This record gives sequence, structure tokens and C-alpha cells, in this order.
Amino acid sequence: MPRHLIDIQDFTQEEIAALIARSEDIIARPQDYQDSAARQKLATLFFEPSTRTRLSFEAAMLDLGGSILGFASQDSSSATKGESVADTIRTVQCYADIIAMRHPKEGAPLVAARHATVPIINAGDGGQNHPTQTLTDLLTLHREFGQLHGLTIGLCGDLKFGRTVHSLIAAMARYPGVHFVLVSPKELVAPDYVIDVIKRHGATYEECRTMDAVMPKLDALYMTRVQRERFFNEADYVRLKDSFILTPDKLKHAKPNMIVMHPLPRVNEVSVLVDALACAKYFDQVRYGKFIRMALILKLLGRDAA
Ligand code: NCD
Repeated sequence: MPRHLIDIQDFTQEEIAALIARSEDIIARPQDYQDSAARQKLATLFFEPSTRTRLSFEAAMLDLGGSILGFASQDSSSATKGESVADTIRTVQCYADIIAMRHPKEGAPLVAARHATVPIINAGDGGQNHPTQTLTDLLTLHREFGQLHGLTIGLCGDLKFGRTVHSLIAAMARYPGVHFVLVSPKELVAPDYVIDVIKRHGATYEECRTMDAVMPKLDALYMTRVQRERFFNEADYVRLKDSFILTPDKLKHAKPNMIVMHPLPRVNEVSVLVDALACAKYFDQVRYGKFIRMALILKLLGRDAA
């Protein structure tokens, strides 16, 4: 049975630590990895739009000496003819050694994994999970703070539909001493199952409606876009889309070493004036995303021995 990555909790903390260590080694010695996945093929099946996730998966495989195939939209696949996820996977695994899949339906990558003889990576399923963005976020936090325990993390924006938030909370709740500050309008609070994950692991959290009062206590502020495509009506989206806009002024009371993260794409929620500040780490996250996906591909292909 192949290993898959559907939910970030499919990996132990030791496995995540190993992926972070492997990424650091790839960053330090990229030439040592240029043939690590030679003659292997990665298929990227994206039934939903993407820029960073798909391209970083493809760049990761190419930098490992492997090859890539796939599609970038539902329209260009047989899904538009009514083909099931199960049949798509049975087909693609005839041509590829590993599959990264993004789908608008929650649970679709899990269904894929049940029919797969090759590793399946969830590259985002609806409003639920996005474990490889979380690996990117964990690598970023680890590079900045040297560890993952004891951090106070503010998550701001669309905590209801933001899959990156759900996966990041599920990952970070397992580290001792982590405290979450959940900042959102009341319409976009984190779902109960996410709060349950925090409680189950004994992490702590608080919920609030504005970021000003909580800013001084944060080690990291994770901003997110309001997820327009998951709303039932446009009027609600328009009402809520600009609930939070981070400007340099709002950062005045932040700790001197606090970092601002964002999975991107950004719409309005982080002013471009923040980009020039030393705390802005979102384009570093983009860069790290390729390295941790290289480490992940090697792991799932069984090529992660030192
Ligand atoms: C995120 C996603 O697709 O969930 N983007 C990403 O993969 N970096 C965030 C978003 O779309 O808001």
C-alpha cells in the first residue's frame, strides 16, 4: 500500500521534522538532489485554479530530475464529461508514479487514495484541508523561530472556508505551548471540528473580532483571503471581503520579531505597503514551498533514505 498525504495529521511530528530537515538539506545542497527522482513521473490533477501549488509541485519534480504531466483545470479533463474521481485515478496511475490533486469537493483526494496504487497528495480539497501549504508554513515558522513549540499564532480572515487555516491549526495544535488567536467576523469563525482539534491536543485558543488588541502578543500573524468561491451568495462575500486589511500602521504594536504570513493569493487583506517590511514572509513561503514539496515527493516515492 502506498503512503498518501490527505490530512496533515497523516504524518507524525517526527515525519514532519524529517521533512523539514530534508528541505534544509535541499536548500543547502540542491545539486545533490538533481537526479533523486530520475525517470519518475508526477501527475498534477487540478480541478480548481492554482498558481503556486501546482507550479511548485511541478518545479519540485523537475528539480529532482523527474518529469511531469497533468491538467490545470477541470474543463480540460474528462470530469466535464461526467467521469468519476475513482476512474480518473485508475487511469492516471497507469501513466504516473505519484499524483498531486486539487479538487473543489471536500474528501475527493481521500476517495482518490482509496482507489490508488500510487501515492496521492491532497493539494487542496474544497474548504477542508491543504496539507502541503501547511508543510510550507511549518518550514517557514521553523526557519524563523528555530522550533515550532510555544508559538502564539494569530489567524485572521476567513477561518470558516480557509483550508490552509484548518490544516495549519491541525498541525500546530500538536506542538506543546502553542496558542491560537482566531480573528474573524462572526460569520467566518473556524468550524467546530477545527476547534475540537485544538481542544483534543490540549492547545489553547481565543476568538476575537479585531486584530488591534491582540497584535502585541503574536509571534506570527497568518492572514487569509475571504474565499469568494465557497460563498453561497455574492452579497455576503461583498459585505465580508474587506473585514480585515493589514497596513503598516496596524503593525506598530507588534513584537519586533513578529512575522506576517499569507498562503497567497492576496486580494486586499494585506496592503502592498507591508511587502517592504522585514516582517513580511509571504514570498519566502512561496520559495520554501518548492523545497518542502521536493522532500515530500522523495518521501512518498520511498527515496528519502539519507
Ligand atoms: C490557498 C488555497 O488554494 O487554499 N492558496 C494556496 O494554495 N497557496 C489559499 C487561497 O486560495 O486563499
